[in-house]
Amino acid sequence: MSEETKYDFAVIGAGPGGYVAAIRAAQLGLKTALIDKRSSLGGTCLNIGCIPSKALLHSSEHYAITKNHASDHGIEVSDVSLNLDTVMKKKEAVVSKLTGGVGVLVEKRGITRLTGSASLLGDQKIRISGEEGETTISAANIVLASGSVPMELPFLKIDGEKIVSSDHAIGFDSVPENLVVIGGGAIGLELGSVWNRYGSKVTVLEFLPNIAAGYDNDVSKTLARLFKKQGLEIHVSTKVTGAEEKDGQLFVIAENKKGEKQEFPADKVLVSVGRKPYTEGLGLEAAGVELNERGQVVTDEHYKTSADGIFAIGDIIAGPMLAHKAEEEGVAIAELVAGKAGHVNYDVIPNVIYTEPEAAGVGITEAQAKEQGIAVNIGKFPLAANGRALATDATDGLVKIIACAETDKILGAQIIARNASEMISEIVTHMEYGGSAEDLGRTIHAHPTISESIKEAGLAVSKSAIHSL
Ligand code: NAI
Repeated sequence: MSEETKYDFAVIGAGPGGYVAAIRAAQLGLKTALIDKRSSLGGTCLNIGCIPSKALLHSSEHYAITKNHASDHGIEVSDVSLNLDTVMKKKEAVVSKLTGGVGVLVEKRGITRLTGSASLLGDQKIRISGEEGETTISAANIVLASGSVPMELPFLKIDGEKIVSSDHAIGFDSVPENLVVIGGGAIGLELGSVWNRYGSKVTVLEFLPNIAAGYDNDVSKTLARLFKKQGLEIHVSTKVTGAEEKDGQLFVIAENKKGEKQEFPADKVLVSVGRKPYTEGLGLEAAGVELNERGQVVTDEHYKTSADGIFAIGDIIAGPMLAHKAEEEGVAIAELVAGKAGHVNYDVIPNVIYTEPEAAGVGITEAQAKEQGIAVNIGKFPLAANGRALATDATDGLVKIIACAETDKILGAQIIARNASEMISEIVTHMEYGGSAEDLGRTIHAHPTISESIKEAGLAVSKSAIHSL
């Protein structure tokens, strides 16, 4: 019997959690293996999630600007038309460049890549079944980073044709006439925006009283107003209960707040009601790895599962299902295994919705401060009062800072702005170092920049904003 190869560190799943863990482990001198079913690295995020959706958001924004706003800038265009095939090819080129780049990083770090389905056999052994047969390896430390898959509604099975998940909605081969989006979270709003820009009639059905439910009420309401202006039809407090086909036309059936039945015609239905941990086929039972009632792998604060020598990170454990959260956990677990003090600051994980404008948040909301009995001061600054925003047609939005009333420490922030995803990092950094609203207000910002709104919102916490009352 041939002896299997032994590693110090083997990672199952090559998404942002897994491949980052592998790179950090290799940097720290651990003999590392990285296993994934896909031959292209990067997991959901790079292959069918964050990156292709951002490419589509970018392309569709160009289309919408050309079609609707070019003449505002003295650019006269006519007969604007869409070549969706080119859009998809561009998106695929972005994905293959990035996944290829990660492949080079992994190779140059001396990490062994294994392609196939991994399952735990117990005794720190992993079997990998791929196109080229089966191999078994063993590793002193095994990291589970198998990610998540879209959740389905029990009465609306995803068929990939009419009823789709984000996996399919990033690759439609034609623009659906009526797209019904179930769930007004990040996925629904981002992909709803893409297809709305390309001409679909997009209807978003959200169960809760607000879309973008993790944000403060005023921020969610502002977003809803802006998206409606762009043509999205949004129904909140609306529970989807089923779907019916009548004379060849599909209808999504929902119930509004008053309990009234509503029907929405749909050529495609995007189910974006959340994601669930993906642990199927991993052989967790054989290895003694416990799951909780939500299907998440149970870990301690050092990512250790109920089985010795087996760790878990990313979407399969508790916490927000975000690529950057998984990446940080990937670094932390590699450092912990290597005997260093790996750590993730869960209080400052930013959250972004990449629409136009974008929404970004970090820390606690005003509502959460109230629930937790924390006295806060709020500073808000509207982008309409910012010179750069005015000069670049980006006045839709605001910056909101939530600061402790006693200490002035920043506890949270929310931004609606074209570049909110980039702007939020400044506040994350201030929070990481325990900064106050006054620190933000006294930080010099280049003029003119939309980021000056952050400084002004910081000043507004003590009612001393210069460019608003
Ligand atoms: P989500 O959890 O963000 O939003 C799902 C929404 O669907 C919720 O508002 C929920 O109330 C609603 N919903 C659930 N059942 C419903 C029903 N029967 N009828 C109507 N509404 C219903 O989930 P989403 O957007 O699918 O995203 C999944 C995960 O992926 C999230 O954790 C998200 O943070 C992450 N993600 C992050 C992105 C980003 O950072 N920009 C982009 C895409 C996904």
